[in-house]
Amino acid sequence: MDFKPLSVLVTGSSGFIGTHVVRHLHAVGHRVTALDHIPPKDPLPEGVAFHVCDIRQGLLPNQCFDAVDHLAALAGVRPSIHDPIGYEFTNVIGTIRLLDFCRRMEVPTFILASSSSVYGPDTPLPAREDHPANPCSPYALTKLSGGVGRDGLGAPTCPPGWAAR
Ligand SMILES: NC(=O)c1ccc[n+]([C@@H]2O[C@H](COP(=O)([O-])OP(=O)(O)OC[C@H]3O[C@@H](n4cnc5c(N)ncnc54)[C@H](O)[C@@H]3O)[C@@H](O)[C@H]2O)c1
Repeated sequence: MDFKPLSVLVTGSSGFIGTHVVRHLHAVGHRVTALDHIPPKDPLPEGVAFHVCDIRQGLLPNQCFDAVDHLAALAGVRPSIHDPIGYEFTNVIGTIRLLDFCRRMEVPTFILASSSSVYGPDTPLPAREDHPANPCSPYALTKLSGGVGRDGLGAPTCPPGWAAR
């Protein structure tokens, strides 16, 4: 099969997972735009554009992409208990803003980094995608809401995509 380079926007690009995703996508030949509200710890590979943006309220790039990999979030169960409102703004409002961006720009693919925490502590492992959700923390609830946001804002306006838990 022929390789087709894609233009990909990676949010949360300065974080633990985003750093690796950006480098991998670039290494295999995709055109990557990295987005975060803090700069990367190490220089980005040559050719990767960096767009500084707070997803809660900042200006998103004025261009279309083939895909958005949405990793930007406040992560972690325990800190979310002390900052539920901050988590809601970043993980739910921020995600809805990204989804709305995809709708306006006609981005065909949206990938959300969700979390296994949406299943709750009593889920038999390995958890199945169709296992009932039982979010037991603000973090889990915001991760579930982000996914539901995709479905809720979804057909017919939202791009196809999925929430990786
Ligand atoms: N690391 C894990 O084990 C794990 C497990 C399940 C899900 N996830 C999810 O994967 C994603 C990435 O996780 P991670 O471990 O790399 O987290 P991380 O905290 O290392 O990275 C998150 C990035 O998002 C950015 N960010 C936060 N708020 C922002 C805002 N308002 N605007 C723009 N950027 C903002 C941060 O600056 C950071 O660079 C998150 O969505 C997280 O919920 C991670």
